[in-house]
Amino acid sequence: MADKIRVLLSEEEVNHRIGEIAAQISRDYDGKAIHMICILKGGVFFTCELAKRLTVPVSLDFMSVSSYGDDTKSSGVVRIVKDLDESLKNKDVLIVEDIIDSGRTLSYLIEVLKQREPASIRLCTLLDKPERRIKKQVKVDYTCFSIPDEFVVGYGLDYAQKYRNLPYIGVVEL
Ligand code: IMP
Ligand code: MG
Repeated sequence: MADKIRVLLSEEEVNHRIGEIAAQISRDYDGKAIHMICILKGGVFFTCELAKRLTVPVSLDFMSVSSYGDDTKSSGVVRIVKDLDESLKNKDVLIVEDIIDSGRTLSYLIEVLKQREPASIRLCTLLDKPERRIKKQVKVDYTCFSIPDEFVVGYGLDYAQKYRNLPYIGVVEL
């Protein structure tokens, strides 16, 4: 049977907010180029929508990490499944994530990527669940929405690989 999904953030709200964040990022990076790193798979929809709205030059690369755990919780052990194709040396890197939950994935990833000598490294996320943060040192530079501690799907986020393609953010009513 299909799961019931309650709309938390409509397509219009999400798209509007991405436009605002894109304008802010474009201002902050004025005169520079942004090397966007999309964290697969969840970050892919947000990355595209954000990239289309940026007015500074953009290049893109992709990385896939997996955290061992069940469908709804990450364990904290992170493994690089697909590494970047390009070097980060002297680039202004913007990591684009779907959601920051415990912060474990990003705290690990930022340390790994810093060692590759980028000129700068910032973090942009579509969603943040601040209540769930375990790795308090993870600094999020751009957040579209802070949300309560609920399991959400859509706009790249999945539940057992389903619902990534929903054009809005919803809560699965289990
Ligand atoms: P963290 O390492 O705990 O911050 O976990 C981040 C990852 O957990 C995200 O990139 C998602 O893949 C997944 N995740 C956390 N919360 C949710 C959610 O509400 N819906 C879907 N995936 C989630
Ligand atoms: Mg993810």
